[in-house]
Amino acid sequence: ALAPNGCPVSARAAAFNPFEGAYMQAPADYLRWAREEEPVFYSPQLGYWVVTRYEDVKAVFRDNILFSPSVALEKITPASPEVLQVLQGYGFAMNRTMVNEDEPDHMARRRLLMDAFLPERLIGFEPMVRQLARQTMDRFVDRGRADLVADMFYEIPLTIALKFLGVPDEGAEQLRQFAVAHTLNTWGRPTPEEQIEIAHNVGRFWQTAQRILDAMRAQPDGEGWMYDTIRQHLAHPDVVPESYLRSMMMAILAAAHETTSNATANAFHTLLSHRSAWEALCANPALIPNAVEECLRVAGSIIAWRRVATADAVVGGVPIPQGGKLLLVQASANFDPRHFENPDEVDVYRESAVEHLTFGYGAHQCMGKNIGRMQMRVFIEEFVRRLPHMRLAPGQTMEYLSNTSFRGPAALWVEWDPARNPERLAH
Ligand code: HEM
Repeated sequence: ALAPNGCPVSARAAAFNPFEGAYMQAPADYLRWAREEEPVFYSPQLGYWVVTRYEDVKAVFRDNILFSPSVALEKITPASPEVLQVLQGYGFAMNRTMVNEDEPDHMARRRLLMDAFLPERLIGFEPMVRQLARQTMDRFVDRGRADLVADMFYEIPLTIALKFLGVPDEGAEQLRQFAVAHTLNTWGRPTPEEQIEIAHNVGRFWQTAQRILDAMRAQPDGEGWMYDTIRQHLAHPDVVPESYLRSMMMAILAAAHETTSNATANAFHTLLSHRSAWEALCANPALIPNAVEECLRVAGSIIAWRRVATADAVVGGVPIPQGGKLLLVQASANFDPRHFENPDEVDVYRESAVEHLTFGYGAHQCMGKNIGRMQMRVFIEEFVRRLPHMRLAPGQTMEYLSNTSFRGPAALWVEWDPARNPERLAH
């Protein structure tokens, strides 16, 4: 078989399938061969060029003109006519948001919508996260066992995200089901039957988002990023158009919390399975901010992101024809030994940890990164203080949704002896 640039496809490139379990279980391991031998390869199963080395991934992120993000939210598995019909039945009209918008529109919009992310606007959120974390831990600290995802890491980032956006609480269970559907619809390869069911949930998600948006527009003086957005739409409809409002309302309801929930669960899994790293944090909590970066490097919650070549291009020496789609595997780039020394080691002292590409890079770099980081830091601070003796429950296998991009375990069971809780020993 030949790739679109006329080069032969190697056997391993032909076998690359991000929808099989091994990719999600350990994406960097799954692509070790590529980093070493074929760092940019064409995947016939995906129809994408897969980019696996740090410098190449960063270079593509850096040039968002030659490598447009317009495909970032495209269905990676094309919709069948039946699926399209289901989506149309719900009036589904997902269009450009921020993350998949081209210049010059993107920068104009990003500038207008930046204020809510400024440090002074975020200051109040840290005490809120800490209070929620403490209250939530109170519920299980004497129990000796918890699924950290169900008991804590799902709900708090959701609560914070809704507060940040100004969106009234819609019920966690419903939104969780919607977010799963959105992930599988955008980045998954479900069977044709599954796709129909997923399309119904995506359609319901779309309608729920529109209903919330319309309610907010009726009272446009509220507080939160989506209210800022509504007001900027009224003031600058050319820069923040109606279609942006509608699309973003749905996209951000998933992006603002799933990413953080998953990153937190991945971080605790990483630290607890590298006991010396966890113990270093228990002994010296000042290391936690850097540990957060190291966890985002080794186990980020977005592991691959997409671009499309707007003209003939070259990536890592490989010619990519105009229109070629690229899957930038940040989870692989973050393990590139050309950039990170001993990349397989979890090193909470690593000075370059913050150079990971989990938040993307360049003009579209994640606007919410400091909200995500802050929550991860607060959670780790609270756990090393109150449950330093906590361990991963033995014998559990991590389960992940099958998709190219969003990675976090469905559950994370931990256990500890409540009699040894420091707060009991202190009394
Ligand atoms: C964009 C990851 C949390 C809002 C992105 C991108 C990634 C990402 C990979 C695309 C970057 C690129 O194309 O270069 C993450 C991760 C998070 C996280 C790993 C948590 C650990 C959040 C939160 C919010 C948020 C909490 C909002 C409250 C956004 C927005 C963009 C974005 C608005 C679009 C920026 C643009 O295109 O200019 N994020 N994100 N993210 N993220 Fe996040």
